[in-house]
Amino acid sequence: MSMQPTDVRVYNETALGVNAPIYAYYAERIDARTGVFAGTCLDLGCGGGYLGLALARITDLDCIFLDQSPEMLACAEENIKAFGCAHRARTLRGQVQSIPLADGCVDLAISRGSLPFWEDLAAAFAEIRRVLRPGGHAYVGGGLGDPNTRAEMEEQRRKLYPEWRQKKRTPPQRDNRQYIEGLIKAGIDPFEVNRSDEGLWIFFQK
Ligand SMILES: C[S@@+](CC[C@H](N)C(=O)[O-])C[C@H]1O[C@@H](n2cnc3c(N)ncnc32)[C@H](O)[C@@H]1O
Repeated sequence: MSMQPTDVRVYNETALGVNAPIYAYYAERIDARTGVFAGTCLDLGCGGGYLGLALARITDLDCIFLDQSPEMLACAEENIKAFGCAHRARTLRGQVQSIPLADGCVDLAISRGSLPFWEDLAAAFAEIRRVLRPGGHAYVGGGLGDPNTRAEMEEQRRKLYPEWRQKKRTPPQRDNRQYIEGLIKAGIDPFEVNRSDEGLWIFFQK
């Protein structure tokens, strides 16, 4: 996935503005599900770091923000400073299927909106499992936040960014079976693949 500079700017503006409630919503779901409030969090395919920063806001987690795109990581660095998180956050350029981190150093691996772009799902899931500490949690997937506020937010986005919104950025669509196959191939058991009006979310623990 590569974006033009204007796209990166608008994506970042949208994520920090009209879309901010999406990240706050999932940060709370992640907290409630995993109960991980301290230690190291890895935000995979972080873009400008929106989900990890929303989580940092309500926990004591230290965050590593990983993305393959230097442009998105530049946004993440700005956002980390703007959120006052520079003392407990860092960016890392890399790919999910070969995470440049040691085994077992992550307490919580999170990701939103990046999973559909991962070409080799089994390699990505195996890498996430590798970097998790025993007992660590993975919560990865995507969605548009609270189903009750979605229409209103979409309306706001259309008004604010009419031209940008018209562009199609749909990633390749996958069904649950493909995610399940990837998880099994990565040797992960048990796991959950949940598809609902909150999006598609995968959960497992090492
Ligand atoms: C749609 S954006 C989502 C960004 C952010 N997580 C969010 O929720 O707004 C997808 C991000 O995933 C990154 N990405 C896609 N495939 C990746 C891979 N294999 N490894 C690392 N980053 C990846 C892209 O560079 C992009 O920043």
